[in-house]
Amino acid sequence: MVKHLLSMQDLSPKEVEAILDKAAELKQKLRKGEPHELLHGKTLGMIFAKPSTRTRVSFETAMTQLGGHAIYLGMGDLQLGRGETIADTARTLSRYVDAIMARLFGHEDIVELARHSNVPVINGLTNTHHPCQTLGDLLTILEHKGKLRGLKLAWVGDGNNVCNSLLLGCTLVGMNISAACPRGYEPPAEILTQAQKNAKKSGSKIEITNDPNKAVAGADVVYTDVFVSMGQEAEREKRMRDFKGFQVDSKLLARAKKDAIFMHCLPAHRSEEVSPEVIDGPRSVVWDQAENRLHAQKAVLVFLLT
Ligand code: CP
Ligand code: NVA
Repeated sequence: MVKHLLSMQDLSPKEVEAILDKAAELKQKLRKGEPHELLHGKTLGMIFAKPSTRTRVSFETAMTQLGGHAIYLGMGDLQLGRGETIADTARTLSRYVDAIMARLFGHEDIVELARHSNVPVINGLTNTHHPCQTLGDLLTILEHKGKLRGLKLAWVGDGNNVCNSLLLGCTLVGMNISAACPRGYEPPAEILTQAQKNAKKSGSKIEITNDPNKAVAGADVVYTDVFVSMGQEAEREKRMRDFKGFQVDSKLLARAKKDAIFMHCLPAHRSEEVSPEVIDGPRSVVWDQAENRLHAQKAVLVFLLT
């Protein structure tokens, strides 16, 4: 059986821990200039149906640093863009590359890709999940807080792909998570059901509310993301109205713990989901987060390919 990373649920708590350990080790090696070409001669195919700065550059750099190679495959470059099926694309790419990373719209499309792939498939974001983001985020929290278990993460905003992966990831590792979303923008029921199952095993607490003040109260980590995700551009006006009162500003952040950190997966829209003084302020760790995508993904690649 080929192992894929389509959602955080594809990893056990022990595997998450092992990936974070490996990421920290590889980060040190890079800092010290020690070679770590663990994927010498390996190739990663990277399919992008949506734009990307962090995911594309961090995966491509990851493969270079690991001694391998990455190929960027935009929709306009692939026959997939003019009607070749996902299944045939998966069968073909599997004959060339050692792993596939894909950023797609519907999550069912990456499931289909993985079903027909003989090599590991890594989710670089779908409408429903963003597991690589969560792994980089857990590494960042661990670095800043020294632990994960028992911490409280407050999500403020849309119950979207990044929120879903955090719900699953936090409850796998024993973190508490409180998500404040406007009515109608809460995370999907099936994600909450799975997160509850994880929480039962790990001892995490989950809270879903429509009140940002309630979610942020006593939090160790305050996290937000854009109100309009890729593919939702037509809903922009309605969303701007519906998300009124959900901006993370200094007043809201003041309700968290004194040493709370602010996180955002980026790209950010200043003065929409976050005020400039928060994202550019002393509590913000967003650049560490962006960097840690590289280290966490190197660990994922090593985990899936060796
Ligand atoms: N956070 C994230 O995935 O960024 P990109 O869209 O730039 O890849
Ligand atoms: N929720 C955002 C995350 C971007 C990294 C989106 O899907 O556009």
